[in-house]
Amino acid sequence: MKPKLDFINAKLNKLKNDSLFRKLEDTIVNKQFIHVKNKKLLNLSSNDYLGLNIRNLYFKQFQSSSRSVTGNDKKFLELEKKISKHKSQENTIVYPTGYMANLGAITAIIEKHDTIFSDELNHASIIEACRLSSAKIKIFKHNDMNDLESKIKKTKGKKFIVTEGVFSMDGDLSKIKEITEISSKYNGITILDDAHGDFVFGKDGKGTASQFGVSKKIDLYISSLSKGLGSFGGYVSSQKNIIELCINRSKSFIYTSALPSTIIEFTLKRFNSNREQNRKKLWANIKLFHKGLQELGYETNSVSQIIPIIIGDEKTTIQFGKYLFKNGIFAQPIRYPTVKKNSARIRFSVTAWHSKKDINKTLAILEKCTKKFKTV
Ligand SMILES: Cc1ncc(COP(=O)(O)O)c(C=O)c1O
Repeated sequence: MKPKLDFINAKLNKLKNDSLFRKLEDTIVNKQFIHVKNKKLLNLSSNDYLGLNIRNLYFKQFQSSSRSVTGNDKKFLELEKKISKHKSQENTIVYPTGYMANLGAITAIIEKHDTIFSDELNHASIIEACRLSSAKIKIFKHNDMNDLESKIKKTKGKKFIVTEGVFSMDGDLSKIKEITEISSKYNGITILDDAHGDFVFGKDGKGTASQFGVSKKIDLYISSLSKGLGSFGGYVSSQKNIIELCINRSKSFIYTSALPSTIIEFTLKRFNSNREQNRKKLWANIKLFHKGLQELGYETNSVSQIIPIIIGDEKTTIQFGKYLFKNGIFAQPIRYPTVKKNSARIRFSVTAWHSKKDINKTLAILEKCTKKFKTV
């Protein structure tokens, strides 16, 4: 346990003393019954009001309740154990989405008198979570370590630094190594939302912190299961008492229904599949696409599977997108307020589903587009 995080135990002890501490039980819900600790009980806590008995091969019973009431299927624990191992953390908690993981974790551990340092390009769910925490928020310029340090050195009290691993609109990486150094120097707590880096970067897809050898310096990981893993859900992985606090204080965990077991089973299947083989293919595609764009004359900060072509004005970007569409390529035009005004872009994401032929076809159409719209 890290001494700087001792305050978490104090919060948990307060909950225990006030009889407000929650512990999760294994549950299996079946029609009007629930099985808890090998006991079959009549379930009077389900929200499955109509009890429509529609089943098929794929969809089993949904939890129809939050995890802290009757929705804690054993499969969650199996998945959480696997994620903890994947992130080399003590424990993990799965949320219904990555968005909710950000909301839940940040509001569970950060309070009014604390200060958050947040990269200006952080995802909306981080921004929203920071606001909800009521803490003081200091935005630092994107990946600008001088700006971060100048802000953090003037700050007293608990300091939390929040960054993404791979920035979702630019495809560049955070300076996570430098961030952890600054964080250590000023006794900060580092939160990494690696939604787009998880399962893609680092050894065995362990994420961007692993890529830069600073996994152990991250105090709290947040991620999505709907991106690299292509399933659904989000998670927080950290030391044991942080996860306990999340279970006890995250409104986006307590007051919402648990993910259906089918999704967890599907996630486990994907987790256990031969991810390395697909990761290799993905990286071959990423390299091919980057090289092709470079040859067309595009410059990009991206070093990942998210590769934007920054066009600038919104109108041309939309026309560019339409032209791609007409030619069989779906790539999303991104505009304000998702990105700053006059930095509109076409955002490509390369996957392992694509063949070499798909990438080359895209590049050939892009060549035509580039000439037509004179974008380089
Ligand atoms: C950085 C980041 N964090 C969190 C999320 C939310 O994840 P989810 O789609 O699982 O809610 C996203 C989604 O785009 C994201 O880009």
